[in-house]
Amino acid sequence: MDQTALYDLSYGVYLVTVMDGNRPTGCVVNSIMQVTSEPATVALSVSHNNYTNGCIAKSGRLAINILPQDANPKLIGRFGFRSGKDFNKFESLPYEMVGSTPVLKTNLCGWLVCEVINRMETATHTVFLAKVTDGKRTPGKTPMTYAYYHNVIKGKSPKNAPTYQAPGKEKLPR
Ligand SMILES: Cc1cc2nc3c(=O)[nH]c(=O)nc-3n(C[C@H](O)[C@H](O)[C@H](O)COP(=O)(O)O)c2cc1C
Repeated sequence: MDQTALYDLSYGVYLVTVMDGNRPTGCVVNSIMQVTSEPATVALSVSHNNYTNGCIAKSGRLAINILPQDANPKLIGRFGFRSGKDFNKFESLPYEMVGSTPVLKTNLCGWLVCEVINRMETATHTVFLAKVTDGKRTPGKTPMTYAYYHNVIKGKSPKNAPTYQAPGKEKLPR
C-alpha cells in the first residue's frame, strides 16, 4: 500500500474541550469532520491514551474550538503535548460555560458545542459521533488547516494523533 496516499486527506486543527467533573480540560484533535447536515453531526477520533477520551465518555458533551491561522502556538503545545491527567491546561485561560460545556474565550474562528450520540471503538481510538447543539462564528478569521500547521508553522504531531507520521516519513511540502 502507498501510505503517502493518506497524506492528501485534509483536516483542521481544533481544541476539544470538556468537563472533567468540575474542572475543564481537553486536547488538540485534527481528526474531526461533519458527517450530516440536519441534524448537524460531527465525528471525531480520540486516542484511548488521551485523558480527554474518558472525560468525553463520562460527560457526554464536548466543545470544538476552531483555531485560526494566527492562534497562539503555545495553546497547541499545552493542549497537544501534555496530559490533563496531572496538569491544568486551563490555567490563566479565559473560558465560558455554554450550558455545561467549557468554551475558550481566546482567539478563535468560532466554536461548536456538541452532545455525544454514539461511539465506535477502533484498536487505538474511539470515534465519537456528536450532535451539534450550539455554535458561534467570528467572521473574518481564517481557520488553521493541518497542512498549514505542518508546512507553515512547522508543527509536529504526537503519536496519539491518528494522522501521526513516524520520523523520517513526514509529509514533504509540495
Ligand atoms: C496537531 C495535533 C493534532 C492532534 N490530533 C489528534 C487527534 O485527532 N486525535 C487524538 O486522539 N489526539 C490528537 N492529538 C494528540 C493529543 O492532543 C495529545 O495526545 C494530548 O496531549 C492529549 O491530552 P490529554 O491526555 O489531556 O487528553 C493531536 C496533537 C496535535 C499537536
